[in-house]
Amino acid sequence: MKTTFPTDFLWGGALAANQVEGAYNVEGKGLSTSDYQPRGLMFPPSERAEGEFNLKDVAIDFYHRYPEDIALFAEMGFKTLRTSIAWTRIYPNGDEETPNEAGLAFYDALFDELLKYGIEPLITLSHYEMPYNLTKEYGGWGDRRVIEFFERYATTVFNRYQHKVKYWLTFNEINVSLFSSFTGLGIADGLSWQQRYQAIHHQLVASARVVKACHRIIPGAKIGNMVAAMPYYPLTCNPDDLIEAQRKEREWLFFFDVQARGEYPSHIQRRFKEKNVQLEITPQDREDLRETVDFLSFSYYMSSCASADPHQQQTTGNILKMISNPYLKASEWGWQIDPAGLRHLLNQLWDRYQKPLFIVENGLGAKDKIEADGSIKDDYRIAYLNDHLVQVHEAIADGVNVLGYTAWGPIDIISASTSEMSKRYGFIYVDRDDHGEGTLQRSRKKSFAWYQQVIASRGEALVRGGKNDQ
Ligand code: BG6
Repeated sequence: MKTTFPTDFLWGGALAANQVEGAYNVEGKGLSTSDYQPRGLMFPPSERAEGEFNLKDVAIDFYHRYPEDIALFAEMGFKTLRTSIAWTRIYPNGDEETPNEAGLAFYDALFDELLKYGIEPLITLSHYEMPYNLTKEYGGWGDRRVIEFFERYATTVFNRYQHKVKYWLTFNEINVSLFSSFTGLGIADGLSWQQRYQAIHHQLVASARVVKACHRIIPGAKIGNMVAAMPYYPLTCNPDDLIEAQRKEREWLFFFDVQARGEYPSHIQRRFKEKNVQLEITPQDREDLRETVDFLSFSYYMSSCASADPHQQQTTGNILKMISNPYLKASEWGWQIDPAGLRHLLNQLWDRYQKPLFIVENGLGAKDKIEADGSIKDDYRIAYLNDHLVQVHEAIADGVNVLGYTAWGPIDIISASTSEMSKRYGFIYVDRDDHGEGTLQRSRKKSFAWYQQVIASRGEALVRGGKNDQ
């Protein structure tokens, strides 16, 4: 069977403002939660000491170098680029009445540059950052007023970019709020389950409200949600392990349930009871939640096992903990590589919701070696992406509606969880190290030509051969 993808399949790459732009305090930009996490989102916030080093302050200087980078994406044949708007460039403190024109102008220019090459912008409204001021003055998403601030910000950018951006996402990996409260909710750790789910509720209402605003302001647009998806296999065929796997998956499926179906699923009630959670949900909230997303998007990096035995040893993912699967290998960072898990996931979500799906993050973080001639032979990255894309094709053949695939970090960026430069995902190498040394010069890795060929051939260049893709 040939691996040909649909003609309108959206091939591309995905970035996030705080991991690429740098220019963290220019042209009126306010400080964001990410600016207070110099060591990465697995770590709690730290006050910025004068002169303290934060790799993200400059990141890869995309703010000034985006024309060069976009030209390279166009050379690879990208149909879409996912990136985010930094809320703090538009509303530096989050609670102003009027937006910062310089910030709006920056994204105008960025989107124009993409459109010049026929690259469709896919824009995340909030990717792991919010104005720091909102966390200090309001307690982040714990405060209902933040819903209105977010709506104001979203409405501003919908109005401004209505003729440029047709694909939108609300919150990046919204379920991460369950595990990292500062990153997801702008609230320092130590939250009770009651406080955590109440803040998540505010976020879910905010998401639904901006979906409504998007539908009103840009009738032709499509707006989706975004969840960090992780399939769980029962560690053994003990039925208790299966029940545990179902329980673990429902932790993140809950977010799809609300955003795709427009109401809280029945299974969450049991969890709320066990955790003593009684949410304050107004009739207006229920009404707002009914506005559902047009498509469902997710990141997929790894799968895990689930065991009813509480003594089973756990290893780390970036935020989510995992139990090792003896059938899988892992990346240098311990993330278990599971291409078939992606096919399973796509089928599972399609069966459950019948809404189009978009894989908006997938990729391999690895240390690259520069050869004497300056080349980088990243065959490990090619193998990872090849095997995942073959499984996406299998899912399409299974009947799943997949809109597109954006590889994470098509150019090397600062990693989110540990703020490293040496954990590289790119097809394009950036000369910068973990200490901030380097020229920031860009160069093509071996995977650059490979992805270019995959896109040009609509997937026919992919190599098949795994057990599940005959
Ligand atoms: C996702 C995030 O969790 O994983 C990205 O949405 C992040 O922001 C990506 O970069 C990979 O994680 P990391 O820690 O390797 O950068």
